[in-house]
Amino acid sequence: MSQEIQKLVDSLQLLPHPEGGFYKEVYRSEKMIAKNALPDDFSGDRSYCTSIYFLLTSENFSAFHRIKQDEIWHFYGGSSLSVHVIDAAGNYTEHKVGMNFNNGEQPQLVVPAGCWFASSVSEENSYAFVGCTVAPGFDFEDFELANRSELTSEYPLHSSIIHRLTRE
Ligand code: GUN
Repeated sequence: MSQEIQKLVDSLQLLPHPEGGFYKEVYRSEKMIAKNALPDDFSGDRSYCTSIYFLLTSENFSAFHRIKQDEIWHFYGGSSLSVHVIDAAGNYTEHKVGMNFNNGEQPQLVVPAGCWFASSVSEENSYAFVGCTVAPGFDFEDFELANRSELTSEYPLHSSIIHRLTRE
């Protein structure tokens, strides 16, 4: 990792994320939504909303995973980030989060609840610095990292991107 990126990780006190990359939770609402007011697949009470910083380097990737709520991505700096989404109908789309609007990039992206998604940075020796906001608030109970062979059997058409963006 370059000195510039290490400095960012240190000064923002980012920690390694299990999906790849570095993160820090910057907001967690104090108020809670009771389990009985949430859809049945939530296992307990959840914060109204949470938000994180997320930094991904081009040497690494964020592996395919899914969560139970929509996730809003916000671009802050560095180079653009690709968010790879397999939706409920099994369609794969690569979305670019960044500021180069003429090149199909967007500063904000919503990944719908339940979709499998991964992210990567295509420019070499660089990083993307973004934010991710979810409501109800994030809980690792609602987070599922994909199993490479199971996801490939479910979506054989997308086997190459799944292979690239999952770990053994
Ligand atoms: N908090 C810890 N991990 C995550 C994540 O992957 N997404 C969001 N939105 N919040 C988190």
